[in-house]
Amino acid sequence: MKWLFALVLATGSACGKGDKPPPPTSGSPNAKTESGPTTGGGGGGGGAAAPAGDADAQARALFRDTCAMCHGVSGKGDGQAAQSLNPRPRDYTDAAWQASVTDDQIKTIILEGGQAVGKSPSMPAMKGQLADKPEVLDALVRLIRSFGPKK
Ligand code: HEC
Repeated sequence: MKWLFALVLATGSACGKGDKPPPPTSGSPNAKTESGPTTGGGGGGGGAAAPAGDADAQARALFRDTCAMCHGVSGKGDGQAAQSLNPRPRDYTDAAWQASVTDDQIKTIILEGGQAVGKSPSMPAMKGQLADKPEVLDALVRLIRSFGPKK
């Protein structure tokens, strides 16, 4: 009967936060998200993700505020700080580059930083901000892909 107990617990906690609206995103760079309760077990239903629009908006804001100074607002690698970088960040609009990387590779370098994958250490690790926001990371990948040539 262990499962029944777990089920009651899970149901109880799910009820508690059912009607809470998500907190407004202030865009504060040091807003810390506590690691929420992960779905303990028991199938069905769990893991209602934030609406996609929200993650995309966060990704765009993050890119504009953080990444664009190196990568450029349009992803061409022509941000203000890029002049002094060697190697320079590459041009995301380059079809050959888009074809040469997988989404997973893009995610890894964003999370772990350039050094971790044998690239420039100037590319910062974003794990601190994104480790618990996989939906924003996914949205960043979509954003980077969107700089590529339109099919
Ligand atoms: C301080 C400058 C800087 C900032 C800020 C920065 N990057 Fe980078 N990034 C670089 C550099 C330089 C490289 C190139 C590394 C290399 O080719 O050795 C790079 C590489 C990358 C790559 C891999 C491209 C490839 O060669 O495959 C991705 C993806 C990327 N950055 C995404 C991001 C995202 C997303 C952000 C913001 C969350 C960001 N970067 C912030 C400098 C920066």
